[in-house]
Amino acid sequence: MGYNIAIDGPAGAGKSTIAKRVAKEKGYIYVDTGAMYRALAIHFLKKNILPEETEKITDACKDADVSIGYVDGLQQVYLNGENVTSQLREEAVGNMASVSSALPKVREQLLELQRTLAREKDVVMDGRDIGTNILPDADVKVYLTASVLTRAKRRYAELKEKGIACDLEQIAHDIEERDWRDMNRETAPLCQAADAVYVDSSDMTIEEVVETIIHLCK
Ligand code: DC
Repeated sequence: MGYNIAIDGPAGAGKSTIAKRVAKEKGYIYVDTGAMYRALAIHFLKKNILPEETEKITDACKDADVSIGYVDGLQQVYLNGENVTSQLREEAVGNMASVSSALPKVREQLLELQRTLAREKDVVMDGRDIGTNILPDADVKVYLTASVLTRAKRRYAELKEKGIACDLEQIAHDIEERDWRDMNRETAPLCQAADAVYVDSSDMTIEEVVETIIHLCK
C-alpha cells in the first residue's frame, strides 16, 4: 500500500495546483482524477452524445478504456490508447464531465483505476470523492475549499491571462451551479469526509496551503 494523500473540494479551490506542489515536495505521484472523468467525456462527445442522454452515456462506457501515464512527471491521459491530454480543458469537455460524472456507471468505470494507483504508489490524489469513497483509509485527507468569489476571481484572472473574454458574475454563477451538481448528485456526492481536515484557502497563499498539508503527513 502506498502513502495516500486525498484532496477533495469544489471546482476552482486550487486542488490541482496544491496537489502538484505537495507531490513534488514529497516525491509522490500526482493523480488528477478529474482528468479521467474528462477523458471519458471526450469519448461521449466523440460519439455525438449530448449530456442529457443518460442511457447512451451509460452504454458508451463499455467501449471506453482510460489509462494514465507520466511524461517528465506530468500526468498524461489516454482514451483507448490515444493521448487526449491536450483536449481535457476544453469547455465542452468540462460540461460533459460535470454532468456524466453523476452517473453510477461512469464512476464505476474509474474506481478500480484510481484504487490500483493508490495501492501501488505513493500518491497525492485530488477529486470530489477520494477521501469519502475511493480511498477511505487514506493517510491524510484534506477538504480544500475557498469562497465562491475567491474561486471566481482566480478563474477570471486565469482566463484573462489567456486572452479569453469573460465576465466575473457569469463565472461565479457557473461555479455555484457546478458546486450544486457535485454536492447534490446521488452517487458519491462531494462532501467533507468525517476525518478530513478542512482548509479554506480564501486568505491563504499557495505556500501556506502546501505547508499545512505537508505538516499533516507523518
Ligand atoms: O476537477 P475537474 O474540474 O477536472 O473535474 C471535472 C468534473 O469531474 C467535475 O465536474 C466533477 C467531476 N469529478 C468527479 O465527479 N469526481 C472526481 N473524483 C473528480 C472529478
